[in-house]
Formats: sequence, C-alpha cells, structure tokens
Amino acid sequence: MEKLRTVLIGLGERGKIHLYGLLQNKEYFEVTGVCDLNEKRVCETAETYMLKKEQLYYDAEKMLNELRPDVMVFATLPHIRLSMAELAVKYHVKGMMFEKPMATSLQVAKEITDLCKEHQIKAVVCQQHKYLRSFEQLRRRIDSGELGEIYQIQANCQPQASQLGTHYIDYMLWANGGVRAKAVTGHVHGNFYLDDSHPSPDYILGHIAFENGVRGILECGYFAKQHDAHETGFSHVIMEDKYWTDDRLTVYGTKGYAYAECSGRYGAFTSDTHSMVEAGDYDDFFKKEQFDAQTGYTREFGVWMLNDKKVHPCNVEMAYHGYEILEGIYMSAIERTRIDLPVPLPLKYDAVSILKEKLNAVDYMKF
Ligand SMILES: NC(=O)c1ccc[n+]([C@@H]2O[C@H](COP(=O)([O-])OP(=O)(O)OC[C@H]3O[C@@H](n4cnc5c(N)ncnc54)[C@H](O)[C@@H]3O)[C@@H](O)[C@H]2O)c1
Repeated sequence: MEKLRTVLIGLGERGKIHLYGLLQNKEYFEVTGVCDLNEKRVCETAETYMLKKEQLYYDAEKMLNELRPDVMVFATLPHIRLSMAELAVKYHVKGMMFEKPMATSLQVAKEITDLCKEHQIKAVVCQQHKYLRSFEQLRRRIDSGELGEIYQIQANCQPQASQLGTHYIDYMLWANGGVRAKAVTGHVHGNFYLDDSHPSPDYILGHIAFENGVRGILECGYFAKQHDAHETGFSHVIMEDKYWTDDRLTVYGTKGYAYAECSGRYGAFTSDTHSMVEAGDYDDFFKKEQFDAQTGYTREFGVWMLNDKKVHPCNVEMAYHGYEILEGIYMSAIERTRIDLPVPLPLKYDAVSILKEKLNAVDYMKF
C-alpha cells in the first residue's frame, strides 16, 4: 500500500500528540515534514522523534510547495483555520486533519466546510474523545440496547464552550447516531472568555431538540456541574489538569443511564448493573489515554482516506453541524427565542461580536 505523504503544522501541545498518532500509524502515514514558527519547538520535536533536517520547516507554505503532501495536519490556534484550509486547497492536498474548535465564527466554519466539499478534501476535526476507553464503553452500552430507548443526552463541561463545548456537542451527535438537531434554545452569561483565543461566554446552557425526538442538554463554563475537585477562577492560562478533564456525557434511556468522562471515569445504572451504579476509572488521560485515543482517531482517518465508504465520525460536515448548534444557542440567547436549524446563511450578525457588546462581567464563584 502506498503511504499518505503527510505534513504537520504547529508543534505545540497538541501538535506533538498529532505527530505521535501519525507515527503510530506508519502503515498509512509517512511524515515528510513538520513546521512551526517557533524554532525551539521545531528543534525539540526533531530531537524527540529523530527527524531529519530536510523534514523541518518554519514556513507552512514553503513546506507545502516543496513537499506536495497528500495529507495536511494543522494544530494551530483557532483564528488561522481558514488561511490554513486555503493553503490546503492551493497545494491540492487530499486529506486535512485539524484541531477544534473548527473556527471562531459559523461563517468561517461554513467557508472551510464548503472549501473541503468543493475541492474533495476529506477533512476531520479533532474531537477524538470518542476513542477514549471510557467513551467506547458508553458506546457499547448504547449499541447493546442495555439503556433501552434513548431519550436524553446531557453534557457538563467546566471549560468554556469553545474549549470543550464543541467536543461535547459532537459527542451528543455521536451518541445519538448522527441524527441532526432540529431546534435549540439557549442562555449565556459572562464576558471574561469572550476575549480569549477560544472566545465564548463564561457560561452557556443549551437545550437541543434532535430530529428523532431525543433531547440534548449542554452546559459549559464555571456554573456547570463540577465532577472533580479543582480550584479554578477565570484565567487565560489554566494549568490544572483536573479542570481540563472535568466534563461528563450522560446518556439516559428507558432502561437506565450511562456516562463517560474524558478523565477516564465511566459509570452506568441499568438492569445489567443489578440496579446499582457500576462505576470505574481508566485514569491517566494526560499520560496515556489521550495518546491511545489519538492513535485510534488517526488510524480511522487513514482508513477513510483509502476507502470512501468508511467515513470518519469526526468528519468536517458533522463538526460543522455541531458548530451550528453552538451558534444557535448563542443566537437564541441574543434574540430571546427558539432557533430552528439549519441556521440560514449568510448570517445576519456575528454572534460572538454581539455577545461582546451585550454581556457583562460576572464574579467567579465556585458552586
Ligand atoms: N482535541 C483536543 O483534545 C485538544 C486539546 C487541547 C487543545 N486543543 C486545540 O488544539 C489547538 C492548538 O492548541 P495547542 O495547545 O497545541 O496550542 P499551542 O499554542 O501550544 O501550539 C500552537 C503552535 O502552532 C504554531 N503556529 C502558529 N501559527 C503557525 C503558522 N502559521 N505556521 C506554523 N506554526 C504555527 C505556534 O508557534 C505553536 O507552537 C487549539 O485550537 C486547541 O483548542 C485540542
């Protein structure tokens, strides 16, 4: 099998994990180049992974022009997603893997999705927690029928919406078998994180009506139900690991419920668990689980690249729908009404810009 010539742009925290995922899947991917603006990061990565000098770049376009890859991976901050996607188009890449959130506005998310469609680029957004063991366990309970008929899916995340919210909307869609949302309502408040590299209100509460009658309840931010102990105020640099894994996806069915967290914890209460809560913990997201999840996520992208029928569950069209749900929640709060999907384009306004004008500061409080 001919390998997919692959380049990686951005060698920060996430870029290194993408590189790990690619190198664990050498049967599909051959990493021909890596790039970062930061020389230290390039040198460190080269040393860790024993890369050759000719694989190292400081300018993404130069690398694309010289190496003409099949696959372009970028793990940069959200504000430069569209310019990266345009480079992918210019240099005719066939596959693109990039980080969440897929954009900082729905308009840009749509432009990226359309570019991929128009130029037949298979693209995935890295909402990879589905590949964690805790989530795979939840998937098995859904698929086996142990939960009965699913009627509600709930997600709580301590980090703000554009950090973990887009992950968890995507996991709600995944838990619901990819069925799309029909309408949403939302509440938002707090302006601290609207000036972050991942702009969102400090708290959002959204109610999602899916086309199959299932309801979704999403809350993100400091007022969300906390599932772990951590001391965190509003801050642009939060170092505490337990904050970043303080989330939970709970699926309720007519015969019981089950949940998964990216911390590794999982649990269920069903007749199979003898009407007791059966809980466990795979632990160690940062040392092990996130690497294994990345390996599975990347492998399935390799599979999709070779087989059109094996569409990746993190595909850009599903990610766009997730983004649209989030935007709908913001719009509902702004317009004080229900928002029916799909959100009509072009947008009447940019929701984040309006929220910057309208929202006030709130005091951080632990609940
Ligand atoms: N999927 C997940 O579980 C997960 C977890 C954490 C972060 N993320 C996301 O990953 C993304 C990156 O996060 P991070 O923590 O790695 O950020 P980071 O700031 O540590 O790394 C980004 C890197 O990109 C480089 N860069 C920026 N512009 C560039 C350009 N034009 N050409 C080449 N290199 C460029 C920077 O120099 C930096 O080294 C964010 O969008 C974040 O939300 C995802």
